[in-house]
Amino acid sequence: MIVKPKILTGQLNDFIKKLELQALETAEERRPLYLEVDIKDAILILDVGCGSGMVTRDIAHLTKGKVVAIDGSEDMISVAKKVLKDCRNVELKVGDAENLPFDDNTFDVVTCNLVLMWADDPQKVVCEMARVVKPGGVVLASLEPDYGGKLHYPENPRIDPVFAGNAIKKRGGDPHIGRKLRLLFVRAGLNTKVGIGNNRIWSCEEDKSYYLHARDFYIKALKDAGLSQEEIDKWEYDYLKSMDEGVQLNFFPQFYAIGRKPMVL
Ligand SMILES: C[S@@+](CC[C@H](N)C(=O)[O-])C[C@H]1O[C@@H](n2cnc3c(N)ncnc32)[C@H](O)[C@@H]1O
Repeated sequence: MIVKPKILTGQLNDFIKKLELQALETAEERRPLYLEVDIKDAILILDVGCGSGMVTRDIAHLTKGKVVAIDGSEDMISVAKKVLKDCRNVELKVGDAENLPFDDNTFDVVTCNLVLMWADDPQKVVCEMARVVKPGGVVLASLEPDYGGKLHYPENPRIDPVFAGNAIKKRGGDPHIGRKLRLLFVRAGLNTKVGIGNNRIWSCEEDKSYYLHARDFYIKALKDAGLSQEEIDKWEYDYLKSMDEGVQLNFFPQFYAIGRKPMVL
């Protein structure tokens, strides 16, 4: 089954640019999680929903083992082939996360990053991840956001709801997936620990550079939400000014879950 990622409708390049930026910006937050699940010494790792492969590349660099990376989109796998061309320990595959094409108890570690938010049936995906991990092995969802916990100031009552999850919901994603991770992992039979992976508030300079890099993506979300060019221009002027003044504060929780498969089920 080929998955058409909901996020890709007509904006593949913007999406890939955003994934690249997210991978860079979250590398520091994901690294301790990879160390905690002992990715360095794992022999066989599966990265589910690898997208353009930027996060897979981080995993491949951290381990001595082999990484199998799977995505439901042929377009994303083509991009990942280029991104990962120098990683000799990665094998790429098109496939469905809700029906993983692997035997039970195959992998030492099974990871996903920003995938459950977009899955049609996230419980099915986690159950599949739990099925293919070995007894005693670990399933890791490294970063899954929860827009309900998003905080920022100064506020803008017209624009904020768009970025507080409405834009994600409109594209078929679940903006509240973060809070659901514990339930999804426990229901999949995993011994589960959850946490928030990003405990640092970015500086205004970091926020501004992220915004400018992913600007097209944000402007499109505002247009799709029905805002006029004039409203968008006014918001952007105020937003950039608040960052130049150094007064803008943003916090956006990214949850993680680590689930160990019991030795005897
Ligand atoms: C937001 S991207 C994240 C990509 C990558 N993990 C990262 O963090 O850069 C979500 C990816 O999940 C994939 N995806 C969503 N549902 C899927 C499914 N059922 N099977 C396989 N891939 C799926 C999409 O094709 C997309 O590439």
